[in-house]
This record gives sequence, structure tokens and C-alpha cells, in this order.
Amino acid sequence: MFAVLALCVSLSHLANGHGVLTWPPNRQNGSMANAGACAWDDCVWYSDFVTIPGEATVNDEEFRTFNVKVSTGPGDWSRKNPWRAPGTAKVFGSGCGVYGGREDFVLGSSGRLQGFFPPGVNGLELPAKSPTVWPKGSTQEVAWAITANHGGGYSYRLCPKGENITEECFQKTVLRFVGDKQWLIYGNVTQMGDSIGYELPQLELPLKVIRNGTFPAGSEWARNPIPSCLMFDQAQCEGLPRDQYISCAQAASGYDVVVCPPNWVQFPEPFPGLSGHVPYWRSHLGPDVPQWINLMGGEQGNPPMSRGFPISIMDLVKVPEDLPEGEYLLSWRWDCEQSS
Ligand SMILES: *[C@@H]1O[C@H](CO)[C@@H](O)[C@H](O)[C@H]1NC(C)=O
Ligand SMILES: *[C@@H]1O[C@H](CO)[C@@H](O)[C@H](O)[C@H]1NC(C)=O
Ligand SMILES: *[C@@H]1O[C@H](CO)[C@@H](O)[C@H](O)[C@H]1NC(C)=O
Ligand SMILES: *[C@@H]1O[C@H](CO)[C@@H](O)[C@H](O)[C@H]1NC(C)=O
Repeated sequence: MFAVLALCVSLSHLANGHGVLTWPPNRQNGSMANAGACAWDDCVWYSDFVTIPGEATVNDEEFRTFNVKVSTGPGDWSRKNPWRAPGTAKVFGSGCGVYGGREDFVLGSSGRLQGFFPPGVNGLELPAKSPTVWPKGSTQEVAWAITANHGGGYSYRLCPKGENITEECFQKTVLRFVGDKQWLIYGNVTQMGDSIGYELPQLELPLKVIRNGTFPAGSEWARNPIPSCLMFDQAQCEGLPRDQYISCAQAASGYDVVVCPPNWVQFPEPFPGLSGHVPYWRSHLGPDVPQWINLMGGEQGNPPMSRGFPISIMDLVKVPEDLPEGEYLLSWRWDCEQSS
């Protein structure tokens, strides 16, 4: 009757950019209150420098998130990045993310880490949180938040807890989305010292799901609904050494502009003004909590400023009716388009 889930989270495919599963509770500590602030490095469990092995299948502008009007020729700089053939890029570790993005940690991966773990730790090794119970055949809420917006899209998958936990196992049970809507939900935003996030409106928007050209065949992936900025064409960064390339790409997508200039966005905004790369907000996190902004040498303040998006992107997924009863791990995989 019940499928019990203990949760892990898998992030993938970011070069110096990050996000986190925020619902249900998970090993990496992501939460809807903290949203994209990357508290306790919750956004650094991923795979870095991974590209698609074959040709791009996501070429249609409707599902693209960076350089959306270019899908051929030398100007198509994202053609080898994971979102261009969702699910085909190799990931490191067990499908639960790897601290710092690499098993063989190299300089220039991930940017910076706060050092709670040695680089390369498998997310599966983190202590489990209390399990969440999902009845078979039910519809459930899942959510994630963006720290650095590298576009792309994502899927949710299950692997039986008793099996060898691998990316391949998660690929056998990719969950389907329910309905044609998704929701943006604010985290614990504060203003003048008061928590106001939970009073802010939940925003409903159309869900864009892609099933064609995905791996495994027919698996469902949702497009990231929030556009990054378009300050200049990232093609101008091609050929630079790795570290300069990353800085150039970040500038191309508006790393420090706070909000994108009107219409300087990668694709149309779902709501006016809702776009950005790594925005700023005032969260409830005190100066004792390490978060993304500390890493980047930003001003801490008291309370400190947070960086990343203050919202979670919530979807509904279907727990398969024919799933055998038991304990499972849930993995969320985000394939980016701006980076590899
Ligand atoms: C989760 O947060 C707690 C503090 O609330 C911290 O002690 C722990 O190390 C964090 N776990 C991970 C995986 O970062
Ligand atoms: C699926 O995508 C392939 C190429 O990516 C295309 O040739 C085919 O027409 C698409 N099929 C549908 C039903 O959209
Ligand atoms: C379990 O998975 C790991 C990869 O995560 C692999 O190296 C190992 O060979 C697998 N073991 C078995 C028994 O399949
Ligand atoms: C939200 O922030 C307030 C402080 O501003 C705090 O008291 C409260 O516990 C936070 N709620 C959550 C769910 O983190």
C-alpha cells in the first residue's frame, strides 16, 4: 500500500553553478525556507565538466534556455551541454551528487567549497533524514531551488533502497509529472527583521515537459521556467582558459547585476521581472549559518544578505501505481544548458 522514501538528492552538470532539492526533506539539507541560499553547502552536490556523448536533441526554441534561437553551426555554443540531450551525460557518484562536482577533485571545479567534507564525497554517504511516506498511485509535491541559474531542466527518479544505488538504477523509474502547472513558492524571506516569505503569493505558471529526445527514452523532464540574463552572447567567451571562461560566462548571464535589465533575458519571463542569474535577498539565516554569499566574499551584514533565488519551483509527480511496496531513495537530476 505504501512506498516509503528515504531521500537523497542528485544534482548534476554545473560548472560553478548550483541548485538544491528543497522538498521533501533530504540528506543534503535543502529546505524550502532556505530556498537557493546554499546554506551548509546544500547546493554543491553535482557533477562537473560532463557533456553529452551524442548529438543535441533539444533544439526547439520552446524548450531551450540559453542562446535559444541558435541550434546549429559554430554559434551554437551549448550544443554539448547536458540539457541538449537530457539524461545522456554521465554523472559521478551514485545519482545522489558528489561534493564539489568531481570524484578526482581538480582546481577550477565547483569554484569554492566551505569544506564541510573533503571534495568528492558521495552524497549517498550523508546521514539519512526521516523517511517520507508516499502512497502508491498518489500525487506528491516535490520542489527545488536555484542558487546559480544555468537554465536547463530536471527530472525526479526513484531507486529501491535495498539495491545498489546508482544513476542507472534511478533511470529505471523516472517519475511522471502531473497536470500542466507548476508553482513558485517563496522561502523564509525577511524584511526589516520580519519574516514575510510565507505571506507572499504562490505563483502558478504553465509547466513545460519534454519527453522526446530524452534518456531513458520517453522519460519526462521539465524545463527550468526562470530565464537567466542575457548581457552579451556567451559565444564571445569561447576559447578562453577555463577560469576566465567561467568568469566571462557568468558576466554574460548577469552574475552581479542583481536584476536583469528589462528584456535582457535568455527567454521570456514567466512574470514581469522574474529572471536572473544569482539574485540577492534577505533571508532568515543568521551570520552563524554558512551560505553561498560567504563563499563569494560578499558582505555578510547582520542578518546577512543571501544569494541565490528566494523561491522554490514546485511540481506534482505521480507515484507509480505498480511500484512494489518498500523503501526507496528519491533523486532529483538537473541537467544544465549554460554549463557542462
Ligand atoms: C546540515 O545542517 C546541519 C546544521 O543544521 C549541519 O550540522 C550538517 O553538517 C549539515 N549537513 C550537511 C550534509 O551539510
Ligand atoms: C522527436 O525528436 C526528433 C529529433 O530530436 C524528431 O526527429 C522527431 O520528429 C520528434 N518527434 C516528435 C513526435 O516530436
Ligand atoms: C554498485 O555500483 C557501483 C557504482 O556506484 C559500482 O562500482 C559497483 O560495481 C556496483 N556493484 C554491484 C554489485 O553491482
Ligand atoms: C523563518 O525565519 C524566522 C526568523 O526570521 C524564524 O524564527 C523561523 O523559525 C523561520 N522558519 C523556518 C521554517 O525556518
